[in-house]
Amino acid sequence: MSRPGDNLTEPVSVSVLHALTLDEKISLLEGVESWTTGSVERLGITPLYLTDGPHGVRKVRRNSGAFGLTDIEPASSFPTAASIANSWDPQNAWLAGAAIGRESVALGVDVLLAPGVNIKRNPLCGRNFEYYSEDPLVSGVFGAAFVEGVQSQGVAASVKHLAANSNENYRFSGDSIVDDRALREIYLRAFERIVKDARPATVMCAYNAINGTYCSDNRDLLTSVLRDEWGFDGLVMTDWGATHDRVAGVLAGCDLDMPGEVSHNRRVVKEAVLNGTLPESVLDTSVQRVLALMEWCADSGRQPTPVGPSADPTVLATQLAADGAVLLTNDGVLPLDPEAGRIAVIGEMFESMRFQGAGSSLVNPPAVVSPQAAFDARGITYRYARGYRALSHDRDSDLEREALAIATDADTVLFFGGLTDLEECEGFDRTTMALGESQTALLEALLEAGSRVVLVLFAGAPVELPMVDRLAAVLDMYLPGMQGGEATAALLFGERSPSGKLTETWTRTAAQASSAAEYDSGRTARYYESIYVGYRFHDKAGTVLAFPFGHGLTYTEFTYTDVRTTTSDGTVAVEVDIANTGDFDAAEIVQIYVRNAPSAVFKADKELRAFAKLM
Ligand code: GLC
Repeated sequence: MSRPGDNLTEPVSVSVLHALTLDEKISLLEGVESWTTGSVERLGITPLYLTDGPHGVRKVRRNSGAFGLTDIEPASSFPTAASIANSWDPQNAWLAGAAIGRESVALGVDVLLAPGVNIKRNPLCGRNFEYYSEDPLVSGVFGAAFVEGVQSQGVAASVKHLAANSNENYRFSGDSIVDDRALREIYLRAFERIVKDARPATVMCAYNAINGTYCSDNRDLLTSVLRDEWGFDGLVMTDWGATHDRVAGVLAGCDLDMPGEVSHNRRVVKEAVLNGTLPESVLDTSVQRVLALMEWCADSGRQPTPVGPSADPTVLATQLAADGAVLLTNDGVLPLDPEAGRIAVIGEMFESMRFQGAGSSLVNPPAVVSPQAAFDARGITYRYARGYRALSHDRDSDLEREALAIATDADTVLFFGGLTDLEECEGFDRTTMALGESQTALLEALLEAGSRVVLVLFAGAPVELPMVDRLAAVLDMYLPGMQGGEATAALLFGERSPSGKLTETWTRTAAQASSAAEYDSGRTARYYESIYVGYRFHDKAGTVLAFPFGHGLTYTEFTYTDVRTTTSDGTVAVEVDIANTGDFDAAEIVQIYVRNAPSAVFKADKELRAFAKLM
């Protein structure tokens, strides 16, 4: 499969390029009706269709400009990036990318605006559910696998949002002030790995500025680093509405202005070419990249090949959701024997599960399997009470009374809770890590009454759990996609063991984060913490955490023996014997960290260098 830029050596469709008028060239450097590129009918140049997203295809039926479910074509909803990363199995990212790529082909989508690989600088970022990790290695490995999966289906990927886009508040006008070490070692590192390993067809630049220059017209970023240093040979597009100075953008290497149709941008580009401030040869380079992308999409050989365990996407969606769940605590209450005692189920998310985040990653799945549907399909006997109203923080005394009543004569209470679109969404950040008051109060009341409570969470990011030591278990499903209920039941009742582990540090409160004092304090985001993000900070600060990066339990025990290393030509191989000493089949994730030698240069105590998952 040829790729954008392959032909740039023999200038792609040179005849086409030179047949274009100046106006036609300029029209190809911006979008049309939000979701397509331009076209030149007289030359047979037809438009490409670009759309989200990282967890499923969001193809709008009519262009309302909003993020509503009502006007989106049905498509499979897979677990969000945060959940996929918790599996520590990059093959899961590949499978998700390929499955979404396959559905993109069926829906006539040429470019999928994913994956999002921004670093989780702070637990309050409203979009952390859509990103993989606080660690650049995990983010890069998963992002590269996702890109390869999407592009294996002949659909172009768009790695986003380059770069240092770590907050949603002030996102359109923010300026991330980041030192070079942090930029290179933390915020650019994942993009670098993805560009070099997976060769994405496109990259999407972020809204914000970096050290005073907006990403959309930042030549250092889009040409010196991305192209000259990393060898990126594809197309750069803006995030939707991220253009600040379109002429500077073309000069910087920002090829495609999305969503486009800003007449001012078209006019200033034409004036700049005519008055010489924008050499037509530079314009032609961007036009060639658009044409090369069109060619890549046209000849990318799209035979939607079956992806994963079955042609039925719900089988894959269930597997990915189960793999991405994290068993945070368990006093032995799980796995639950449904025959062993009376079960009370409390919490609206049991019947209306939160399975995805809000914003541009929204998907309209043909069907959602809630935990309630999955319980009923298994003939589980339980009593249910709603307990709280998910989309309100106000407590409801009637609902609470009803919940406490069914809990009194239950042996085990399963409490289904988590974050809602009120707290976690693209476009704004959380102000606290706490769960909604109505949920926290009811949990405390149940514990006060002496119930044995298992908390089942649906949230795309860590939450405050002040009562965690009094809970019998916490199973965090993150945002598991359309099959989340099926995966939840399979894990709770031991049809399979949880195996996921956190790819972000879980602090007890947001105040413990290294960026807490400064985060969202204004348009300018000063990354004073430099490289000390996530565990790189907490190891040094000795933070008393809720759960560390890499934490996650299974229903069995694994023992590690005989760790040995061999070194050859600068590469250290680490081998270890692992035994499953419990009575449950389960997967184990081996994590290898490198401890940095004492140095005059400030460094993190240890850094993740490799990981592997084995059944
Ligand atoms: C949004 C998001 C970006 C998305 C684009 C198109 O603002 O930042 O991730 O791909 O616009 O929906």
